Amino acid sequence: MEAARIQEMMDVTIAAAFAAGKWVGRGDKNTADGAAVAAMREALNQLPISGRVVIGEGERDEAPMLFIGEEVGSGGEAIDIAVDPIEGTNMTAYNQPNSIAVLAFAPRGSLLYAPDTYMHKIAAGPAARDVIDIDATPGDNCRAVAAALDKPVEDVVVCFLDRERNEEKIAAVREAGARVRLIGDGDVFGVISTAIAGAGIDLYLGSGAAPEGVLAATAMRCIDGGFQGRFLFRNDDERRRAEKTAGLDIDGVLRRDDLVRTDDAVFIATGITDGELLRGVGSGDRANSLVMDCKSKTIRFVETIYRGRSTGALSVA
Ligand code: FBP
Repeated sequence: MEAARIQEMMDVTIAAAFAAGKWVGRGDKNTADGAAVAAMREALNQLPISGRVVIGEGERDEAPMLFIGEEVGSGGEAIDIAVDPIEGTNMTAYNQPNSIAVLAFAPRGSLLYAPDTYMHKIAAGPAARDVIDIDATPGDNCRAVAAALDKPVEDVVVCFLDRERNEEKIAAVREAGARVRLIGDGDVFGVISTAIAGAGIDLYLGSGAAPEGVLAATAMRCIDGGFQGRFLFRNDDERRRAEKTAGLDIDGVLRRDDLVRTDDAVFIATGITDGELLRGVGSGDRANSLVMDCKSKTIRFVETIYRGRSTGALSVA
């Protein structure tokens, strides 16, 4: 992707993050989400692209804006766009760490249309990428990751969303001797952390939302990490939606490159609340973004200061 397009798209996540930032800590996740969605949509519509939303706020009948299939942009390059204007709406509403505004984009036809269902997920950074196996037990995965990272299994840290449905796997990880880090929300961050040295997470396991799986898989492709998923349907309606939208074996293993079928993909996140990877926008004048470009193999942490937003002197600290 062209550098100018990547920068334009970064401005889109920044617009969503600033809109969400006004609602940080106000306990109203729906208003926060509405503001971020509207800002992201407005910013996308100003761009010279023919964008199609493949991961969005839901199906057309349940989402007024950024619904799956919505066309955005004023016309130009044909791209697929996966968006999550606030990944971690609760974290924004309650001012908890690691809430981010996220999007991924790639040439038209190369990102999976994931239905709004759950997905079993497993992910690890580049060094353990080839040893993870969604069909193996949590214990076997912990031991394989320990061997790949050349450390005792007791030092392996596995991140899970803190949900009842993940309890069995959490117990199996502890049984294997590894450590567990539970997060309340935000599994895109959980997955990416496995590939960031110093984030303290070696393996991601458990189920979360399928759309977030596509976003996380794009980041993992950009960062050369491993990701595997499998849809987890709660009812026949979800299964039918998957049959319509996914266009592949909906019961099979979804490998990273089934979800993101190109090296010409870009993943961008801008911090809403402060977190381990990014500082949040808060009510300030600066935005911190993580920009991963698969093709150029670059990962950038970009700080953007908006002079007009500050009332006084430019803050440089
Ligand atoms: P939202 O920001 O849309 O609320 O999603 C947050 C999230 O924690 C995701 O990161 C995760 O994949 C999903 O919700 C898990 O869903 P659930 O809360 O239903 O277990």
